[in-house]
Amino acid sequence: MTKNLLLCITGGIAAYKTPSLVRLLVKKGFKVKVVLSSHARYFVGETSLSTVSGNPIHWRLFPGENSTDHDIAHIELAQWADQVLVAPATANIIAKMANGIADDLISTTLLALSTPLFVAPAMNTRMYLHPATQKNIQTLKQRGTFIIGPDQGELACKTSGPGRMTEPEQIVEQLVNFKRKSKELAGKKVLITTGATREYIDPVRFISNPASGKTGIHLARAAREMGAQVMLIAGHTSVPLPDDIPHLQVSSTREMLKAVLDEFSSSDLIIMAAAIGDWTCKQQLKTKLKKSTQPFDFNLKLTKNPDILKKLGELNKKEEKSKYLIGFAAETVDDPEELIKAGKKKLDVKKCNLIIANTVNKENKGFQTDTNQIILISHQEHFLVPETSKAQLARKILEFASAELRKYRKTK
Ligand SMILES: Cc1cc2nc3c(=O)[nH]c(=O)nc-3n(C[C@H](O)[C@H](O)[C@H](O)COP(=O)(O)O)c2cc1C
Repeated sequence: MTKNLLLCITGGIAAYKTPSLVRLLVKKGFKVKVVLSSHARYFVGETSLSTVSGNPIHWRLFPGENSTDHDIAHIELAQWADQVLVAPATANIIAKMANGIADDLISTTLLALSTPLFVAPAMNTRMYLHPATQKNIQTLKQRGTFIIGPDQGELACKTSGPGRMTEPEQIVEQLVNFKRKSKELAGKKVLITTGATREYIDPVRFISNPASGKTGIHLARAAREMGAQVMLIAGHTSVPLPDDIPHLQVSSTREMLKAVLDEFSSSDLIIMAAAIGDWTCKQQLKTKLKKSTQPFDFNLKLTKNPDILKKLGELNKKEEKSKYLIGFAAETVDDPEELIKAGKKKLDVKKCNLIIANTVNKENKGFQTDTNQIILISHQEHFLVPETSKAQLARKILEFASAELRKYRKTK
C-alpha cells in the first residue's frame, strides 16, 4: 500500500541533497509532499522539488496571494501524512520540536502530528555537540522520535566530525524497513495493561506503587503503529492515557482482573505491563480511619490478591496456548544473572511466553523514568536491551513478540 510521506526540509546546506532524496522515496513507492522552512528556500529550489515529488511545495503558514497553500495547511498536512521525515533537521527545528514551539509551517505541522516521526540532524559538529542540542535530541528520542544519524565526516564548513546528514540512500532504507515492519501486527488484537493498581484501606488511603504507566502507553502506541487493534486497560497513571486508543480505567487488582478476563478470549497478544498489587486489605473501611481511635501501633490485615498473570497463563494452557502472553518482572536485584533467574522462574510458574525483567530501584530505570534497561526472557533465549527510551523499548518488545507470534502460530 502506498504510504504518504511528508518531507520537511529545514535550512541547512544538506538541503541540496533533498531532490535526490525525494526521487529515491518516490521510486520506493512513497507519495511525497514537501514543506520547506523559509531558510531552506535559500538552499534548494522549489521547482526541482515539485518536479521530483509531483506535488506543489508548501512553505507558508498563512496562505499568500496566488498561493496553493490551504488556509489550515498545517492540520491538513499532518493528517495526510502516514510518516514524516525532517531532513536535513537544523539545530533550530530540533530545539523547536523539543520545546513545542510552533512559529512556522513546519514546526506547527510537527506539533499537530500523531504519526511516526523521523529526524535526520545535519549541522556543524560544535552545534551538534552543544549540550542544548544534545538535550533536545534526547528529549525527542524519549518521546519516540526516530533519530537517523548524523554521520561522521567532512562537513560543508570545512571541519570534520559528527554532524553530516546521513546519505539519502540510507535514510530511505530506514523508512522502507519501518514501512515493512510497521504492519506486522495487522489483523491482531493486542491487550495491554498499564499503570498501578490501588488497594484502598479506607476511602482516603490506599496501598499502591509508583508505576507511571509510561511503558504500557508506549506499547499501546507502538502496537497500533504496527497495525494492531489495541485495547489498553489502565490502573492509575501519572501521564494521560492516549485519547486515540481504546482504553478502560480501573482501580483495584480485582477490577483489573475482571476487565482483562472480559478481553482475554478475543485477544491474540496480551502484555501485562501494569504493576499490580499482590495484597489487598482484608477489610476495606467505609469511613475514614480516625487517628484518635487507633493505638500508636496497630496491624493492618492484608490478604493475597488473585494472581492475574498466573490465571491468564492457566487459561491459555486450557485454550491450547492460542495466545501469546507477556509478563513483566519488576525486581530489586541489579545482577543480570539474578534477574534472569527470577525472570525464568516467573516464565515457568506463570506459564507465559515471554518475561520482560527489569530492575526498578535504580536511577533512570524502572518506575516513573523515561528510560529503562530490560532483559527479554523466552523459553528459548534471553537477551539484554541496553538502556534506551521506553518508546524504543516498546517497539523492540513488540518486534520480538510479533516475530515470535508468527513462529508460535505455525507450530500450533
Ligand atoms: C550558509 C549557511 C549554512 C547553514 N547550515 C546549517 C546546517 O547545516 N545546520 C543547521 O542546523 N543550521 C545551519 N545554518 C543555520 C540555520 O539556517 C539557521 O539556524 C536557521 O535559523 C534555521 O532555520 P530553520 O530551522 O527554520 O530552517 C546555516 C546557515 C547558513 C547561512
